[in-house]
Amino acid sequence: MALEALARVDAGAYANLAVRSLLDGSTMSPVDRHFVTTLVNGTTRLRRALDWRIDAHAKGPIDPETRRVLRMGAYQLTELRVPAHAAVYETVRVAPRRSQGLVNAVLRRVAEAPEPAWPSEAVRLSYPDWIVDRLYADLGSVAAETLDAMNAAPAVHTRDDGYVQSPSSQAVAALVEVRPGDRVLDLCAAPGGKATALAALGAEVVALDAHIGRARLILDNARRLGLNVPTVVADGRRPPLALGSFDHVLVDAPCSGLGALHRRPDARWRIQPADVDDLVVLQRQLLAAAVTMVRAGGTLTYSVCTLSRAESTGIDEWMAVAHPRLASMPVSVRPWSAHGRGAMVLPQWQGGDGMCVFRYRLIH
Ligand SMILES: C[S@@+](CC[C@H](N)C(=O)[O-])C[C@H]1O[C@@H](n2cnc3c(N)ncnc32)[C@H](O)[C@@H]1O
Repeated sequence: MALEALARVDAGAYANLAVRSLLDGSTMSPVDRHFVTTLVNGTTRLRRALDWRIDAHAKGPIDPETRRVLRMGAYQLTELRVPAHAAVYETVRVAPRRSQGLVNAVLRRVAEAPEPAWPSEAVRLSYPDWIVDRLYADLGSVAAETLDAMNAAPAVHTRDDGYVQSPSSQAVAALVEVRPGDRVLDLCAAPGGKATALAALGAEVVALDAHIGRARLILDNARRLGLNVPTVVADGRRPPLALGSFDHVLVDAPCSGLGALHRRPDARWRIQPADVDDLVVLQRQLLAAAVTMVRAGGTLTYSVCTLSRAESTGIDEWMAVAHPRLASMPVSVRPWSAHGRGAMVLPQWQGGDGMCVFRYRLIH
């Protein structure tokens, strides 16, 4: 099943969805389900490092189907505590007949080999060069720990009401500082994590999202939690709502996700540098629309689960120039650290998502 999921990922499927749809139709035990998930997600995250280990011991080209099997075997040998004989035997069994000899030989050598001489940090940590370069440039040397942390499976954090949500996202919702009865607009709300957290605090939350399928998730989650969250499907750049009618507006913007790569195992291979530039344009447009929704004296909160300067301090610098009527508000929340006029949390600090947040108050 793991191999089938990896084939779907290679064909363009999202790893999380490929695993879920295969597991949904199976009667596997919880232990085996967990193993399938670990194999698929781990092999996908570490693809580049695994390929380096494999290629050190293989002569000549390897067809895609055989490479998939080799990656899955090498992952078990180097990252999981699967005994070598079992990992090699089980992997050879699922290899195409024509390449069983090759798979057996390469995996045995991978099992016995010492830690390889890595050609670069990007290969060792298994990321595209540009992500490593970008995070080192934007974060400094702490980036090594950040990249390493996003190679592990994300810890599962659950709110008191049972909703699964990263502590970083919980902190962002708490930062909005709503009082019961406050009117709140969540301009990028699906699947409703922050919107439901705010509604649970007694706020009257209007949730908006551009994608109808994702907007349904807000309604499902609100219903499950016994909350009423009116949900609008619209482009947040043109919200069909009364100007200046909200005490608080939250823009939890679409972003490059470079602080949450552990959560989406294939994301690092999908996202391209040019996407960051496009996202910055969208983030500015969403913020410009958000500003028009805030009442005088109300607040605007901008958050992203990425760590790029362009999408965090870069956006804040633009806000200072483009929207001078918005005064920056201090953000202090532990264990976050100051990031320009806002705050940032790294994924290695509490096992949650890396995020950046900035807050503003609309001057009367
Ligand atoms: C980071 S997610 C929001 C997560 C959500 N706030 C939560 O806590 O569960 C960003 C959302 O923005 C939505 N989105 C993307 N482009 C949008 C647009 N132009 N207008 C409104 N929403 C948009 C996406 O569908 C996605 O659900």
